[in-house]
Amino acid sequence: MAFDVTIQPSGHTFEVEDDETVLEAGLRQGFAFPYGCRNGACGSCKGRVLQGEVDHGPTLPPGLSEAERADGMALFCQAVPVDDLEIEVREIGAARDIVVKTLPCRVAALNRLADDVMELRLQLPVTERLQFLAGQYLDILLKGGDRRSYSLANAPHDDEHLVLHVRHLPGGRFSTMVFEELAPKALLRIEGPLGSFFVDEESPRPRLFVGGGTGFGPLKGMLDHLAAEGMDRTHHLFWGARTAEGIYAPDWLAQMTREQGEHFRCTPVLSEAAAATAAGLPAISGWPHDAVLAEYPDLSGFDVYMAGPPAMIAAAREAFQGAGLPPEQLYYDSFEPAVPAE
Ligand code: FES
Repeated sequence: MAFDVTIQPSGHTFEVEDDETVLEAGLRQGFAFPYGCRNGACGSCKGRVLQGEVDHGPTLPPGLSEAERADGMALFCQAVPVDDLEIEVREIGAARDIVVKTLPCRVAALNRLADDVMELRLQLPVTERLQFLAGQYLDILLKGGDRRSYSLANAPHDDEHLVLHVRHLPGGRFSTMVFEELAPKALLRIEGPLGSFFVDEESPRPRLFVGGGTGFGPLKGMLDHLAAEGMDRTHHLFWGARTAEGIYAPDWLAQMTREQGEHFRCTPVLSEAAAATAAGLPAISGWPHDAVLAEYPDLSGFDVYMAGPPAMIAAAREAFQGAGLPPEQLYYDSFEPAVPAE
């Protein structure tokens, strides 16, 4: 039996078929909701059920706490309606027109950025371009049905190559291939662009960016995009890494600092080293979210974009909420570990 869903505050409506999730039905009918993993882990698709009921299945997905469910929240990538719904969720207008494509591509270059980070540049066939929004990701399609997600580290205007920052995970199927086997001209297949992590360009608020490790990649894509459009307000990047070597883009940081003047700053935050500088910038020790709050104790007037490991995202979300950041001003991409295909 189909159910009707009304989205607030827009008043848009759509229909959910039997056994469809709210997110699947919304996307199928052209409504771009925020989402990331689509498997209940990351929490990106969370929204409020104002009226009606949803079923999340026999066990609560990890991205939703019991307290949140009791408070009327739902994960729309997992939630199946059990009656007509009225829901509150942020709609994304800009992604609606972007076609997700599956394309072959060749390795154009491999550049070592740090001991454990490789820049992988992919070239599409000459007749193809991938339209995307800065901050989105793509999936590498591997033999046997596995896929690996990587954020795009370049901006849409600079799309000769698709640029990925790949961290070498010991035993990781694709990252080991990147570090040990792949060579220029190797053939890969990708699907993209994916995800709803991109900049709200309508917002008048200053922007903070928080990246952990290669979480810098999508933030770089966003900052390149914003710089190309002309920065007119604070853009402060907090880049967390274990040691100074993890701040692996010194030339980019120097150029951005030089060209954007007072509108761009970067603070390296090192968790395992007391180095005073990283990439030529004054660094501080600790965790990125603590560094943000030390400088911006009241976050109510900011938009915050963050990307990186799930533990960093979870700690920062809680801390930032406590500092007055409204949930709709927080955008994040949690780098969940790859789940093997079934
Ligand atoms: S929890 Fe729904 S998209 Fe990740």
